Amino acid sequence: MHYRAVIVIGARPNFMKAAPITTQLKRYDDIETILVHTGQHYDKELSKVFFDDLNLPKPDYYLGIGSGSHSEQCGQIMIEFEKILQELDPDVVLVVGDVNSTLACALATAKFRCGRPRYSPVIAHVEAGLRSNDWRMPEEINRRLTDALADLLFTTEPSGQDNLIKEGISSDRIYHVGNVMIDSLLSFKAQAEKSLILKQLNLKENDYALLTMHRPGNVDKKNDLINILDGLEEIARSIKVVFPVHPRTKKMFRQYGIESHFLKTTQPLGYLDFMKMLTNAKFVMTDSGGIQEEATALNIPCLTLRENTERPVTVDQGTNILVGKDRDVIVAQAMKIIKGVRKQGEIPEFWDGKTAQRICKIVFNYLKVHN
Ligand code: UD1
Repeated sequence: MHYRAVIVIGARPNFMKAAPITTQLKRYDDIETILVHTGQHYDKELSKVFFDDLNLPKPDYYLGIGSGSHSEQCGQIMIEFEKILQELDPDVVLVVGDVNSTLACALATAKFRCGRPRYSPVIAHVEAGLRSNDWRMPEEINRRLTDALADLLFTTEPSGQDNLIKEGISSDRIYHVGNVMIDSLLSFKAQAEKSLILKQLNLKENDYALLTMHRPGNVDKKNDLINILDGLEEIARSIKVVFPVHPRTKKMFRQYGIESHFLKTTQPLGYLDFMKMLTNAKFVMTDSGGIQEEATALNIPCLTLRENTERPVTVDQGTNILVGKDRDVIVAQAMKIIKGVRKQGEIPEFWDGKTAQRICKIVFNYLKVHN
């Protein structure tokens, strides 16, 4: 039997999740693997460099969607992805994470199979069940709706399964497989070690803090942004703070006429350079979801610039502390770490580099049984 699997990628945090799954799926002779890039992220620094760093094959289809409002982005992706579904008639569509491309392709797939004689393609969601319970986050909407549509739900941590069961999703659709992003982290660790980024930025190991910040909740409102920056600049008096600036944040800085004189800003970094920076940082401050997990996996202290996290295992077991956007709390927690008081973590179950193998085996067996 021959099966066709489509893997969807769209934005930066998708690439390191899709890469190990693509590699593993390609090992199955009976599965034809097709990579579709929506083009939600299109800048070299947010997209192309990740293909090079992660050895991702060139996408088979590029939808060229680009920027726009959430509805524009989702709508355009759905229209273009439906054409791919019509052309390929795949058996399974795999979506990863919680970006607009994830939801739009899951929804287009669910609509495509309405009224068809065969229940196909099935939808597999990698990184299912995470919940911040904050409906103002676009990612929370994407997660909830994608999970409601998916047939195979792959969870990264115990809270994922609990949330899905609470929402009435049948347990036989849920598989606790671990964190596929950690597969990438482990398999590219040695290569990341060779990155020259510390030298290029004139930094020494353990002698700087790393900062990333791009969430609408932190950067889109002027007062919040100024308040957080004030705290970060205070921290920068005690330790170098290196800040690769996301395009959204750059745009807001420009719009509000904000300049930072104390933070060491850079372009967004590629995967290997960023991993080198994270591995050698004294601590990281971030509002990203994935970096909370990568910091836990690397045992690097992480201060999360958010009131909540959809990844509670990073707080319960890992190195993560939620500091929100109150400047005094941010500064106090950072100072503790600078003075040598830090949270030690442990590695959550199945964050072992073999998650993609587990996912592909389950997908293959599912296709065999249902076709
Ligand atoms: C998206 C994801 C978010 C993820 C983040 C990682 C959604 C809802 N959000 O947010 O979950 O954490 O990616 O980066 O899917 N832009 C560029 N170049 C690009 C892409 C975007 O300049 O290649 C600009 C856009 O024009 C826009 C801003 O950056 O002004 C935001 O881009 P967008 O893709 O809408 O959302 P992100 O904030 O990147």
